[in-house]
Amino acid sequence: MTPELMEAGAAARAAMIEREKAAGGRVAARARMLQLGEPDFTQGVALYLDDISVSFDGFKALNALTLNILVGELRCIIGPNGAGKTTMMDVITGKTRPDEGKCFFGSTIDLLRLSETQITQRGIGRKFQKPTVYEQLSVFQNLELALKADRRVRASLFSRLSGEQLDRIGEVLTLIHLRDDAQREAGLLSHGQKQWLEIGMLLMQDPKLLLLDEPVAGMTDEETERTAELFLTLEGKHSLVVVEHDMTFVEQLTEGRKTVTVLHEGSVLAEGKLADVQANDKVVEVYLGR
Ligand SMILES: Nc1ncnc2c1ncn2[C@@H]1O[C@H](COP(=O)(O)OP(=O)(O)OP(=O)(O)O)[C@@H](O)[C@H]1O
Ligand SMILES: [Mg+2]
Repeated sequence: MTPELMEAGAAARAAMIEREKAAGGRVAARARMLQLGEPDFTQGVALYLDDISVSFDGFKALNALTLNILVGELRCIIGPNGAGKTTMMDVITGKTRPDEGKCFFGSTIDLLRLSETQITQRGIGRKFQKPTVYEQLSVFQNLELALKADRRVRASLFSRLSGEQLDRIGEVLTLIHLRDDAQREAGLLSHGQKQWLEIGMLLMQDPKLLLLDEPVAGMTDEETERTAELFLTLEGKHSLVVVEHDMTFVEQLTEGRKTVTVLHEGSVLAEGKLADVQANDKVVEVYLGR
């Protein structure tokens, strides 16, 4: 890791400890032994991609991509079609293996050595563009299924939910603005509501890192704004990587201060505050000036 990254990591770790203090948690818990397979976030880094290259028949979809996401960070990734954004998520989740490079979750988990299932189990959740909810089941049942699919929960599909589990479902229903629709059949929800339900299903497994590929595509303006609010609530508790073309949404998420990454031809073209990358000549030329 570079000195800048270590510095940024230390700052993120300090912020994480502050958040924990504010939440009344015991900082000492940070010093406890990590369970086997649990990611180590004590360096403040949630995800570390180094020099990742992926070729498809000689075409480089990712070209020495280097990217770091800090613990609790909400990072927006923008860039033209074909820039490699989805391929990057495929590499992180084990769907595509790179030809070269390193990919670490926390400071110890080498994602390139794990299967897709193992990567999910370590705490990386991914939302694809198309919502995939169980249309025949109610909103509540969808969340219940997601909860029971979590290998940490020792419950059969037919066992009753504990009070704690019911509370968790209630909490997520509120977060995703579907409390009033809990008993509705998921198939009857709007496109935007289905997207939220799917995000809710991911949240049931309490992922440490969430990857969201074009989450507001096809949403109304109001749904888009509510999604931004939702992601801002998740920031800090989870690390989020959001790929989006909708600049209004990206603006809402970055709040004028967060780092945005611009991908182009498989590598980082620019990184910085949204206003700065929007003013960057190279970025205007390949993307925003279209
Ligand atoms: N399985 C594959 N086989 C061959 N080429 C692929 C494969 N997957 C992606 N590509 C190519 O790699 C490049 C990067 O694609 P990718 O889907 O990652 O772009 P993207 O940034 O997500 O674009 P968009 O904004 O359109 O979603 C594209 O040129 C695409 O055609
Ligand atoms: Mg894509």
